[in-house]
Amino acid sequence: MLKDKIEALKAEIASLKAQKADEVEALRIKYLSKKGEVSALFEEFKTVTPELKRELGQKLNELKSLAQDRIAELKAMSAAANAQNREAIDVSRPATSAPIGGRHPISIVKNEIVDIFGRLGFTVAEGPEVEDDWHVFTALNFPPEHPARDMQDTFFINTNPDILLRTHTSSVQVREMERQKPPIRAVFPGRVFRNEAISARAHCIFHQVEGLYIAKNVSFADLKQVLLYFAKEMFGSNVEIRLRPSYFPFTEPSAEMDVSCTLCGGKGCAVCKGSGWLEILGCGMVDPAVLENNGIDPKEYSGYAFGMGVERIAMLRYGVDDIRNFFENDVRFLQQFQSAL
Ligand code: PHE
Repeated sequence: MLKDKIEALKAEIASLKAQKADEVEALRIKYLSKKGEVSALFEEFKTVTPELKRELGQKLNELKSLAQDRIAELKAMSAAANAQNREAIDVSRPATSAPIGGRHPISIVKNEIVDIFGRLGFTVAEGPEVEDDWHVFTALNFPPEHPARDMQDTFFINTNPDILLRTHTSSVQVREMERQKPPIRAVFPGRVFRNEAISARAHCIFHQVEGLYIAKNVSFADLKQVLLYFAKEMFGSNVEIRLRPSYFPFTEPSAEMDVSCTLCGGKGCAVCKGSGWLEILGCGMVDPAVLENNGIDPKEYSGYAFGMGVERIAMLRYGVDDIRNFFENDVRFLQQFQSAL
């Protein structure tokens, strides 16, 4: 009998319980949707004899509004409970700390180098990693047959010998000379690429920081003083420096700079191979030909440049004996530098 079914469903609906919003929604679908139980009774109602229609129709409508009211009530209760829960959150409770990453040791050291020169008035500039022959070699006075241009040292793009991955950040010297008139005083941090066999001491990708100062009456003594300041800031005030004559196509005269061994203090040990000295950078006075190539009159201006490998300095600084550690991203290695942020 439809009448009994209506009464049964009425009782069932009156005692419905639900807490969460999705439970309430499930009940709404169960009873009130097109295929729900209340609708099913409306279907059945179509077959009822005319004498009963009036009474049962009324009861059915009552059932429907009861169901709608009950669902709405449950919905309101669930929303209220939710709001209460939110108030129950103890905002003073310490959060479970999520592990945060740290800076990579190469970034730490690079930032430190840039900071030290920043204190001397050097600004920072960057240039592209994919470069052309002019900026990496020709403008820097590399003769056409220089071995650094060789395929064995340089990565070329698509065998086009004019487009290559820069082998040093000295290319940014050229870009800065194009961009502005002297005085120029800037450092250029960046990634460089060399077609070298990977070993504990060498990698095909590494980082350099280049420095360039061009103004009137810049002398080798200025260069030496700036590098001494840098070495003491980087490795401690007891460190000594030594400049050895060297050769680069873009500087004349050129030198390589050693610092007294950071491990043995100069007495001689395995790291400095008994010499007491560690080589950390190349430098020199900007070759007049380079100034001329870049539209700067060498009679009016002079300058110095230097370039250092960030990995090399980081290895000395932290006592890392294998350059490959910096590229493997082993969390156990990287975590050791977190406090050095
Ligand atoms: N570009 C040189 C190198 O990669 C370093 C250097 C920079 C030397 C500036 C002198 C002046 O080895």
